[in-house]
Amino acid sequence: MKRPVAYLAGTGRGIPTKVMTNHDFAAIGIETDHDWIVERTGIVQRHIGRDDETTTSMAATAARAAMQRAGVTAGEIDAIVLSTATPDRLLPATAVDLQAELGATRAAAFDISAACTGWIYGMTVAEGLMASGVIETALVVSAEKMSAIVDWKDRSTCVLFGDGAGATVLKRAKKERDTHGILSAYMRSDGTLAELLWRPSGGAKVPYSQAVLDDRSTYVKMAGREVFKHAVRSMAEACDRALDAARLTGSDIDILIPHQANVRIIEATAKHANISMDKVYVNVDRYGNTSSASIPIALDEAIERGRVREGTTALFVAFGAGFTWGSMVARF
Ligand code: ACO
Repeated sequence: MKRPVAYLAGTGRGIPTKVMTNHDFAAIGIETDHDWIVERTGIVQRHIGRDDETTTSMAATAARAAMQRAGVTAGEIDAIVLSTATPDRLLPATAVDLQAELGATRAAAFDISAACTGWIYGMTVAEGLMASGVIETALVVSAEKMSAIVDWKDRSTCVLFGDGAGATVLKRAKKERDTHGILSAYMRSDGTLAELLWRPSGGAKVPYSQAVLDDRSTYVKMAGREVFKHAVRSMAEACDRALDAARLTGSDIDILIPHQANVRIIEATAKHANISMDKVYVNVDRYGNTSSASIPIALDEAIERGRVREGTTALFVAFGAGFTWGSMVARF
């Protein structure tokens, strides 16, 4: 096991107040039913941002809470690493809007685009900046306004997603607590499968292929069954790799905090890693899939509920569009 370079000093979340239950879809003309959604996904409700609840504003709420928990001021942040699939605008990065909002005057700020795996990618990049001695303190934020990019006429996708943000303050490890912090990390991608989960238009490649352009092409499109299979396979592999690198097994893990997309994917992942469901944090029922925000939101809740405390060893694992996938083991 490597000596940790960085430790998690504080977490926070920013969640829109408006709740949309499975029963509320009928009012917007979506033919679905509560039992179908619960049985296939485990989702009961999701939070949906109002117009003034932007990716940046949710990120700021999460970031302020995380900085307060960590006892860190905005002026002490060296880097803001923000993962999102829903930037408020394409240029410049949402991270700089957050930097301005927080008044983090010393911070570098940039976005990471790794879909649902964004928090793991962001944490790993921030840890790397600490390892190279460039920074001491990072704010890793994952903020997603999925309601702005889902196709509200496509029942196979719009029922799955929700809005929210989660933030983590990462600090350079102290020598005296050198068994606490990030113990291992793993990241992978496979862009040959990009079109199984994507937004066909909206980028700089115009016109895209006429074959894929239609009036819904700015929205998320997904081949659900295919994504499901790849998610189960890749999250299992990612658990193995992070555990191996930390020289641990599933029985050493106190809590598994997986990306919250679908309870069946979560159960399959836990089973593979030999971690019983009572050690798995699940909140997909209340939030739906908040993409990269799902892990830091779940972690923040798990800390608040006393399920993560000093000495807890946690395994994080995610999979998302790209495809991207990854995992991390950390001790608190
Ligand atoms: N309500 C009712 N019926 C629906 C709905 C809905 N919201 N959506 C689809 N259906 C119908 C379909 O039309 C289809 O009907 P048909 O057989 O008459 O054509 C039937 O349900 C079965 O559809 P499938 O898509 O085959 O259903 P499946 O069992 O695969 O479940 C689901 C769909 C839930 C999307 C599943 O494939 C899944 O969870 N995939 C993973 C996707 C995911 O989580 N992606 C998130 C991003 S990646 C990540 O975060 C891991």
